[in-house]
Formats: sequence, C-alpha cells, structure tokens
Amino acid sequence: MRAVDIIIKKRDRQELTREEIEFFIQGFVSGEIPDYQAAAWAMAVLLNGMSLRETTDLTLAMAYSGEVLDLSRVVPIAVDKHSTGGVGDKTTLVVEPTVAACGLPVAKMSGRGLGFSGGTLDKMESIPGFRSDLTKEEFLAQLQRVGLVLAGQTGDLAPADGKLYALRDVTGTVQSIPLIASSVMSKKIAAGAQAIVLDVKVGNGAFMKSLSEAQELARLMAYIAHLSGRKAVALISDMNQPLGYAVGNALEVREAIETLRGGGPPDFREHCLEVASHLLLLGEKAASEAEGREMAAAALADGRALERFRTLVQAQGGDVSYVDQPEKLPRASLIETVAAPRSGYLKEINAQAVGETSVLLGAGRAKKGDPIDLAVGVVVHHKVGDYVEAGEPLFTIHANQPTALAQARQRLLAAHAWSDEPVPALPLFYAVVRSSDAPGAE
Ligand code: URA
Repeated sequence: MRAVDIIIKKRDRQELTREEIEFFIQGFVSGEIPDYQAAAWAMAVLLNGMSLRETTDLTLAMAYSGEVLDLSRVVPIAVDKHSTGGVGDKTTLVVEPTVAACGLPVAKMSGRGLGFSGGTLDKMESIPGFRSDLTKEEFLAQLQRVGLVLAGQTGDLAPADGKLYALRDVTGTVQSIPLIASSVMSKKIAAGAQAIVLDVKVGNGAFMKSLSEAQELARLMAYIAHLSGRKAVALISDMNQPLGYAVGNALEVREAIETLRGGGPPDFREHCLEVASHLLLLGEKAASEAEGREMAAAALADGRALERFRTLVQAQGGDVSYVDQPEKLPRASLIETVAAPRSGYLKEINAQAVGETSVLLGAGRAKKGDPIDLAVGVVVHHKVGDYVEAGEPLFTIHANQPTALAQARQRLLAAHAWSDEPVPALPLFYAVVRSSDAPGAE
C-alpha cells in the first residue's frame, strides 16, 4: 500500500477500506507518512466526505493508535464532556470540577485551540506549571486519587488525534463532519469514559453553521458512542455570540474562576448548569435533570466546585496561588475599552469574528507549534438583545501589539450589528440527541 494511492482514491471520491484507513493512520503516527501527505488526505476528506462506515473505522483507528483505557477497574463510572469547539467556551473548567464535587469521577481528554475556537489545554496552561501531557499511569492514578483528571492527547493516549488535530488547525481542514466526529470520539474512547455529554455547537462561531449540520454531527457521534458501548447525550447549543463575555486563554480562566466562585456571566453559568445536570443524570448520580441541576448549583454555591478545581490544578503541577488570586494570571500590556458608537439593540455579536480577532491578537496559532500569547483576547460587555446607550463600554481589547490592537478595534466594531427595534435574546440550546436513539440501540 502507498499513502499517495489512498490520497488519490479519496480525492476521486471513492470509499476507503478499513485496511487503507488503518495503514494511513498508523503510518502517520509512526512518522512514515509525512505531514504534507496527511494534510492532502485531510483536505480530500474535507472536500469529499466519508461514509458512516469509513468514519467509524477512522475513529477506531485513531482511538487504537495508542492505549485505550478501561476505567471500570479504577472507578465505578467515569464521565466526560466534550465541546465541538466554540468562542469563549470555557465550560470544561467549570463543569468538570462541579460534577466531580458532586461525587461523580471525571476523566477528561481535551484539545488545544483549533482554528478560531479556543482549546481547554491552552487555557489551563495560563496557570504556571499546569501539565496536561500525562502518561497513562499518571492519568489513572490521578482519577483514582482525586476523582478528576484533565489531560491532552499524548504518545500514550490518542496520539493520532494529537498529530492530526495540530495539522488540521493550520491547513484549513477543521470544518469536516467526519474529521470532527472521529477526533472527538477517538479521544473519548481512548480515555475510557463510560458516559459522555457532547456539547455540539451551532452558529457562526461554531464549525457547524446550520442546525441540520449540527444534528448530523450529533447523530454520528451518538452512533459511534453506541457502537463503542458508551452512553452519550449530545446537546446542540448556540454559538452565534461568544459564550459568557471573555475570549482568550487567561481571560477565560479568570471568568471560569469567577463562575466557580458563584458569580460569572448568567448565560455561561446557565450553560454550565445544563451540561452538568446531563452529566449527573447520565452518570447515575441524579435521578432527574432537575435534581442534577440542584446538585450542581449547590456545589457552585458552597465552594466545593472551586475547591475541586484547586485540587485539579495542584494535582497536575499548577500553582494554585493563581486560582486564589486570578489577578496574577498573564495580563496584556495594552488594555483598551471601546465605547458603543450608537444607541440601539444588539442584533449580532459575530462569534466567529470575535474568535478570529482573538487569534489575530495572538491567542491562537497560524502555524503548527507556534507559541501563543496567553494574555491577549477580547471581553465583550453585552449580549444579543441588550439595549446599549451610545458611549457605554461595548468591548475591551487585551493586546500586546499596537498594530494588532488597531486591527482588532475595527474588526470588533464590525462584528456588532445594531437594530432600532427590540431583538430577542438568543436561546442557549436547540435540541438533544441521545445514543439510545442510535439505530440498533435498545
Ligand atoms: N474538538 C475536537 O476534539 N476535535 C475537533 O475536530 C473539533 C473539536
């Protein structure tokens, strides 16, 4: 078999066999297949798609490119959540410690920033010393000891996704349903969670722009979860405006800590409670979503969730003084608040434009392995539907380069659209898809 023939076959819209997919993934992980061939193949997949069978084979080939953990030997049930990528999406930082504080073990495998969307691992690295490259032994030991672990793809766990993810980020090959589904589900299978809540984002700041695409992705991932013997619930959630107010690594960590302290933006807090309630229900800690929500709200209110976050940071080598004093987190040298140029109702805060501006400021990567600036980003001060008076603060830019600051100002002003008539607030969620609805599930 030759890699080039597999690329040509996909370019010519033919279906790949399981052997071809396994050959390609194994060759890529071992280094025999170079990045340029993998990038060409990923572009062919993006343009021509994959059948359900190909996507399932790709997911399994990626999951089994490293170790696949069996957590049932460590904890009775471990849960995980995963977002398909959004702007200002710091949900993991709040939900995972909240659920763990309710007594449900959480084994989380996260990713880095991808395109205009931020990544949990980059955000957590705003806390000096925090390590996400855990070995299999460290991952298992921490889950058993602390009941909460947050790691990235490593040489041991889902290495194929680690390599392909970094390549897709900088080759325009993120927005593909089979590539996203296999990336997400290979990590979930490798990390061994038995019950998974999938946060499938839809809107201009998501990779899925329409509800029908989001539903297709949700069904596909729920089906793969079912095939691999896991329970999954996919929540289709809005990403037409940033989630919460902060976008950018350290800024988002600060907002997550505020939320863990019982405050935080109302939309973000509500989003976290909904995701947490589904996890508690799926993990059989709560008898209903309403009970799950009460449990999660109580853990946020009495400080247990924040305490769990501290424990997580400490267990993975992070300096907890940054959790206790978030003002120590990296801070940009240029901070400018821009006022609303007019009065009116906010009709749109284009999340993709805000995410791209954050990347332009340095929060994301242009090339594989590029360093990122943890301090920079954007804080919006309003949500769609708000009435804003001319001259009120509209957004704040955190920059380290004057030219990037000037560009960001223009882009962000253009990202806000106005109406003279009242505009309804955006919903947080649109639909729920369950693995128990998958074809063949009881
Ligand atoms: N999250 C992932 O883990 N992978 C993707 O491809 C997109 C979002």
